[in-house]
Amino acid sequence: MTKSEVLLSLLEDRLYHGSKVELDQLQPGNDGGIHLGSKAQASMRNSKHVYAVEVSADVDRFKRERDTGGDWKGKIQKAKKAGYEGIVYLNRYEGIDKDRYFKLLADGWTGEKLDALSDKGFKKLLPGMEDSYIVFNPKDVRIVGD
Ligand SMILES: NC(=O)c1ccc[n+]([C@@H]2O[C@H](COP(=O)([O-])OP(=O)(O)OC[C@H]3O[C@@H](n4cnc5c(N)ncnc54)[C@H](O)[C@@H]3O)[C@@H](O)[C@H]2O)c1
Repeated sequence: MTKSEVLLSLLEDRLYHGSKVELDQLQPGNDGGIHLGSKAQASMRNSKHVYAVEVSADVDRFKRERDTGGDWKGKIQKAKKAGYEGIVYLNRYEGIDKDRYFKLLADGWTGEKLDALSDKGFKKLLPGMEDSYIVFNPKDVRIVGD
């Protein structure tokens, strides 16, 4: 499977958005993007309203980025300028297995050491971590259920 086929198969699986507010249509937040992920990730972000969404953006136009802790504004601006339709990244926070994370800390890992790992190294220690998506154009995202 090519990289874009893998992404396509992920996008065909339902993605979710967790929100504090009731919504009919998703709009980009202050950082310029619409954040989507697995059901576990969306629920950890906001469990009040968890929406299933369909994405129609071109999966070949998603830029893979690294999760450096939540400030996406600059990366979103750069990716938009370069013509991308979205960002995909290994989420290092939402959806984390908390027991496993605390065990790693007890074993001598620190937040800094974990942050310094590549995505591959991070996923080796926390294999349950999954990709999240940031879609730029609200027309590419449709709420289909909850
Ligand atoms: N929300 C998720 O499901 C989700 C999934 C994966 C990762 N994340 C992570 O969470 C962070 C961003 O989270 P966020 O999604 O809360 O975005 P955000 O912090 O930019 O907040 C935007 C808020 O606006 C709300 N909103 C969307 N459309 C709206 C509309 N039409 N009217 C009124 N409000 C509307 C969203 O639900 C969200 O609460 C990122 O760091 C990302 O890594 C979130």
